[in-house]
Amino acid sequence: MSARLIDGNRIALEVMEEVRAGVGGLHAERGVVPGLATVLVGDDPASHVYVDMKNRDARELGLLSRQTTLSASTEEAELLALVRRLNAETDIHGILVQLPLPVQIGEDRVLQAIDPAKDVDGFHPVNAGRLATGALDVPVPCTPQGVVELLLRTGHDPSGKHCVVVGRSKIVGRPMASLLLRKGRGGDATVTVAHSRTPELGKVTRRADILIVAIGRPYAVTRDMVKPGAVVVDVGVNRIDDPSRKTGYRLVGDVAFEEVCEVASAITPVPGGVGPMTRALLMSNTLAAAWALTADGAAHQVRKPMEDAGAER
Ligand code: GUN
Repeated sequence: MSARLIDGNRIALEVMEEVRAGVGGLHAERGVVPGLATVLVGDDPASHVYVDMKNRDARELGLLSRQTTLSASTEEAELLALVRRLNAETDIHGILVQLPLPVQIGEDRVLQAIDPAKDVDGFHPVNAGRLATGALDVPVPCTPQGVVELLLRTGHDPSGKHCVVVGRSKIVGRPMASLLLRKGRGGDATVTVAHSRTPELGKVTRRADILIVAIGRPYAVTRDMVKPGAVVVDVGVNRIDDPSRKTGYRLVGDVAFEEVCEVASAITPVPGGVGPMTRALLMSNTLAAAWALTADGAAHQVRKPMEDAGAER
């Protein structure tokens, strides 16, 4: 193996410490504690684990965190009513509805119901559209933002590089491409987007200085698809059977890690690469939303802690 490991656990801790300091600063300046509401619908075990971790991170950093768990048979109207209540709550600055949602619920209608100012996922069409048109003052989806932070903080500035993004999802591929194209910090790259229907995928990926893979298929990117010396970021998290483990499965990425290590100059592992960064950037987006929502003249009213007799803060 010759590739350097990009340590997402370490860099996520660095970001979390910055958020912790920011939480202290917001409280000192405005008497406000950032509040994150997470909403989980259904029984998907992976989603339960992710949401639990997000709430734990929030509490650990001094944010207020509130989780609502609804059954898999929840009707769309009930979820929409919950989102509207959270929109109106002054203690809540960020709302995250964990995806995917059960089939009877229209994902787009739910995402559109979230107040764009509390959209810490950056999935609301207004925010996604603003990002796609190059806006800088917009909440950016956590995973692509985490990828950019990993690159910048390990000396792999995308500026002027050819970045190939494999995947076109609303959560990763599309915002990833928009972010890399933006002017300024973390952007200014030349960007190609490829996906599952791209013919001769290897021909496209081999042109990448920085290859970002979010295609959702284990080992989809093999050694022959990577240019020697490229930086490889693996966003995939796939469960594959592993009878040798107590759980019966293990997590692998979209990149054939061992063999790609032999050609890449740097690579993110799975787990321990992009995953922890996604969580750290969610905390950072929640803090940013709390600053914006409590700025002078912001449309949302904020309760001062002194008026909040007896409330836990
Ligand atoms: N499901 C998988 N990733 C995400 C994410 O970043 N945000 C939400 N809301 N759901 C997800």
